[in-house]
Amino acid sequence: MERIDLNCLKAEIGALTPARRIGYVSGVYGGVVEIEGLSDIGRLGDQVSLKTADGAISGEVLRMTASHLSILPDHDPVGLSIGDQAILDGQVALAPHDGWIGRVIDPFGKPLDGRPLMRGPAARTLRAAPPEPTRRRPLGDRLETGLAAFNTMLPIVAGQRIGLFAGSGVGKSTLLSQLARGLQADVVVIALIGERGREVGEFIHKVLGPEGMKRSVVIAATSDRSPLVRRRCAWAAMSVAEHFRDQGNNVLLLADSITRFAEAHREIALACGENASLRGYPASTSQAIMSLCERAGPGEEGQGDITAVLSVLVAGSDMDEPIADITRGVLDGHIVLDREIAERGRFPAIDLLRSVSRSLPHAATPEENQIIEEFRKLLGTYQRSEMMIKAGLYAAGSDPELDRAIRLWPQLDAFLAEHEDTDTRASFYRLAQIMGRMALFPQSDDEVDA
Ligand SMILES: Nc1ncnc2c1ncn2[C@@H]1O[C@H](COP(=O)(O)OP(=O)(O)OP(=O)(O)O)[C@@H](O)[C@H]1O
Ligand SMILES: [Mg+2]
Repeated sequence: MERIDLNCLKAEIGALTPARRIGYVSGVYGGVVEIEGLSDIGRLGDQVSLKTADGAISGEVLRMTASHLSILPDHDPVGLSIGDQAILDGQVALAPHDGWIGRVIDPFGKPLDGRPLMRGPAARTLRAAPPEPTRRRPLGDRLETGLAAFNTMLPIVAGQRIGLFAGSGVGKSTLLSQLARGLQADVVVIALIGERGREVGEFIHKVLGPEGMKRSVVIAATSDRSPLVRRRCAWAAMSVAEHFRDQGNNVLLLADSITRFAEAHREIALACGENASLRGYPASTSQAIMSLCERAGPGEEGQGDITAVLSVLVAGSDMDEPIADITRGVLDGHIVLDREIAERGRFPAIDLLRSVSRSLPHAATPEENQIIEEFRKLLGTYQRSEMMIKAGLYAAGSDPELDRAIRLWPQLDAFLAEHEDTDTRASFYRLAQIMGRMALFPQSDDEVDA
């Protein structure tokens, strides 16, 4: 049995409303339900229950006038009639609890794994402001990732925010789960936004496994949930991450995907009457993405950091489509996964020359930076001539630089796929071996013995 915390119980009781006013449905226009009789007490973002002849539909207050509230329901309001009762449930705040680690939760703080879940002693706002820019610490130290490519070429430091850009089925979710298991962090918060229902179960049981779940909180809103719930999922995950950050933990926040968050925001904004502008997205989309991303990052003195890795679905590898463009601009790095690389079976399918970690060069030593630069150069040299090499048009010996790139390419390419549990030092040593630059990384006698 879980131990009951009295403060939490008090908060639970405090959240109950003793009396309820009842309003009624006065109209339905294009999926938005209008309610009369509650506009003097309703607030934007309040939850509302609509009682129909066949049951109840919940929704959220999106617009209001002096005479009525406009509600976007969570489900198709089929069966609703004029005069049906509406009850105001108020704001559903999220009160994260340390006991949420290891659990799967919906964006309202309800358990999705069938076991009872305690709410924390204090409610947090879903749309908190980021820490004061002037009080924020700078980016922290390099984190171990468990993946050779990230340990060396694309370092991730504490408080960094990184985007994972790829078309569908190129390996975004798999890479996120590898980071969930391997990236150095005290607590991992995972937001599964708009995923297929089957994938959520698979992610938790098969991919993350009991070891991964031990330090993770999963917040899930599957693709069948309303856009309100899907959008809320990202905010809820961020609030949970902030809860752990405020206690001094280094939190890793993984979101799959920001594109689904933006799509949910678009559906809501259009239902509210906003105009579509950026290729179908309303103008408020960039503000929604930026204000979410800005909440991740280094904390203030005494707090931990939120390191974030957010996946972005780019249709047809078009990095200029609106969501990719907005996200790339606010993050401190982007990783591009390439379909051709995935098709030839090299995972993670990172296109290194199109990926950037903005924690470089500070995150690495001068020797490491030298290796990183040389690796990129070799890969660039090879890629520029790849067509010629494959067509058999290149005569070996005519360009010593290219000869070296051709000779090293298979090993460099395989290095990016290596993902045994190596630490940064071992990863760099292995890379230096491939490139014949061992002199840059003299090993101690202990390491040589090992
Ligand atoms: N590390 C890996 N090793 C082997 N196969 C992989 C790896 N990563 C991805 N794959 C293959 O690619 C497929 C798609 O991966 P994943 O579901 O992670 O992609 P995704 O980009 O999240 O897709 P979606 O856009 O549909 O969410 C997997 O089913 C698997 O076959
Ligand atoms: Mg996926």
